[in-house]
Amino acid sequence: MPHPQSTPPVGILGLGAYAPERVMENAEWSEYVDTTDEWIRTRTGIERRRIAAPEETTATMAVDAARRALDDAGMGPEEVDEIIVATDTPEVYIPDTASFVQTLLGTRKLPAYDLAGSGCAGFLQALDVARSRVLTGKRRVLVCGVELLSRLMNWSDRSTAVLFGDGAGAAVVGPLKDPLEDQVEGEHETRGAELVATVAGTDGSRWDILCLEAGGTRRPLFFTGADRSPGARPEGGGEFHDSIFMNGREVFREAVAHMVEASRQVLEAAGRTVRDLAMVVPHQANMRIIQAVSKALEVGMDRVFVNVQDYGNTGSASIPLALSQARDAGRIHPGDLVLLTSFGAGFHWAATLVQF
Ligand code: ACO
Repeated sequence: MPHPQSTPPVGILGLGAYAPERVMENAEWSEYVDTTDEWIRTRTGIERRRIAAPEETTATMAVDAARRALDDAGMGPEEVDEIIVATDTPEVYIPDTASFVQTLLGTRKLPAYDLAGSGCAGFLQALDVARSRVLTGKRRVLVCGVELLSRLMNWSDRSTAVLFGDGAGAAVVGPLKDPLEDQVEGEHETRGAELVATVAGTDGSRWDILCLEAGGTRRPLFFTGADRSPGARPEGGGEFHDSIFMNGREVFREAVAHMVEASRQVLEAAGRTVRDLAMVVPHQANMRIIQAVSKALEVGMDRVFVNVQDYGNTGSASIPLALSQARDAGRIHPGDLVLLTSFGAGFHWAATLVQF
């Protein structure tokens, strides 16, 4: 919803992203499944993706992105007051990834927690939570969106595996006009990018269209390890998804509808129109979803940032990775109004307006 005029402006003070070094081209997928570069390219727009090295983990990738975001904001880890990590591919099951990020980053013993299971919408949800935390007194909230999907997908399922990639992004959220800093007239007031408004929603009735069941209380982990015979499963067992499952067609339809609807709602809530948008940075799920969103919103593809060809779908990392690349590539300028829109498992969706 739009933020009341009376609330002080809160925004992104620094942005950073990290992608593993190893590039996996489409052609390499034909070693694992019956597919071709041409199929993947034409159906998804994806040409390559990054795959984490064996020594990398969800937390190390998040920390790499976080350090860059902190550098960008001109601050050190000791200045962070709270950490939120959006991820569906946690470091371990318990505790959360934020605990590892806190230690690796070397922050104070601050509150840190995950926003887990929101699929690709997790980063925008976390940004909105961070904004409200700043309004209730936290000065610097570090938000990470990170996924190591290559370790939780089924490498023999061609309909899902070829879509995903690994990556991380981070943002430092804080007051745009910091009351605790000595202010030179005008300075700091324009620093950062204001979080103008967010619209988000959930429809949990469609959870089984895109899910990973193993590890929850319905399908405890010890049933997915040594003994996977049906008899070893809990009462009412049967088939279940122990790697990421997706009904691609259904997801496609829902993703386009909700990303478009949320985008329209957030513009209306903020009293803006698509003509005011300098750039749209959509979740990078696949090119056809992005094109369908662009068409429905009547925003030409020249105003839509796309990097799905190089990274595939990086889940919660997708928006911060794309946003920081768009800015660093000079596609976003001071004064630009930017729309972020995302959709993921749950289903969850969100759209956020950012004023640079
Ligand atoms: N290589 C070759 N053939 C394949 C592959 C592959 N990698 N994957 C599926 N196929 C085959 C199918 O088996 C099927 O064969 P059949 O006709 O003999 O049964 C055929 O291709 C068509 O399959 P469909 O699933 O109908 O293909 P579709 O055109 O719908 O494209 C895709 C599939 C790309 C997954 C599409 O549905 C899609 O983009 N969905 C959105 C999913 C998405 O992006 N999810 C990301 C996670 S959620 C999110 O981030 C929003």
